[in-house]
Amino acid sequence: MARKLTFLILTFSTVLSIGHSESLAAEPKILVAYFSRTGNTREIAYLIHSLIGGDMFEIQPVVPYPADYEAVKKKAMEEQEASYKPALRSKVKDFGSYDIIFVGSPVWWGTLPPPVSSFLSEYDFSTKTIVPFCTHLGSGQGRTISAITELCPQSKILKGIAIRGDAVKGAKKDVSEWLRMNGLTGAETRQDSVPQR
Ligand SMILES: Cc1cc2nc3c(=O)[nH]c(=O)nc-3n(C[C@H](O)[C@H](O)[C@H](O)COP(=O)(O)O)c2cc1C
Repeated sequence: MARKLTFLILTFSTVLSIGHSESLAAEPKILVAYFSRTGNTREIAYLIHSLIGGDMFEIQPVVPYPADYEAVKKKAMEEQEASYKPALRSKVKDFGSYDIIFVGSPVWWGTLPPPVSSFLSEYDFSTKTIVPFCTHLGSGQGRTISAITELCPQSKILKGIAIRGDAVKGAKKDVSEWLRMNGLTGAETRQDSVPQR
């Protein structure tokens, strides 16, 4: 599906002059990174990827969270209170080459789950554009944006989107509109790769 990425021309184009008459525009490189325990955020990540392309990366803690809801709520609260940042299972290959990084997350106790805080702390996002998205059960994006801003104070952070976990199946229209509002519609990126896990 061939589409054009308006945003890259406006914001990211690197114009390489060749002689005095020709020029080439380098397209921005996009990464869609996400953490998802029960699949809602993953679904939105795949939707974004289907609309805009780029590479994918799943943020996974070395030690997975319990399947039991009460147990995970307790563990998450303890970790968040201690500002604990769990070790992650894998690394993004060639992180420095990405220009735009979508960061997807469920809302946990009104903010980012610890593995997403780990992810944002592990890499240098200072020259990156972060595009936040989250899923939730009614609280909206809560304090996720301020948490991202705190961890990545130098990054450009675009407007985020919050999707209810029970509405992910019908989210295509809203997600497409959000991409368009952020100037990211109609991507044709230079890579459409197998997801990194
Ligand atoms: C530990 C924990 C804390 C949560 N806290 C919130 C919350 O503060 N607000 C909210 O609306 N939903 C909360 N939820 C619900 C999740 O955000 C929601 O189910 C989300 O869509 C799950 O995404 P996932 O399937 O990608 O893991 C919480 C879920 C868990 C497990």
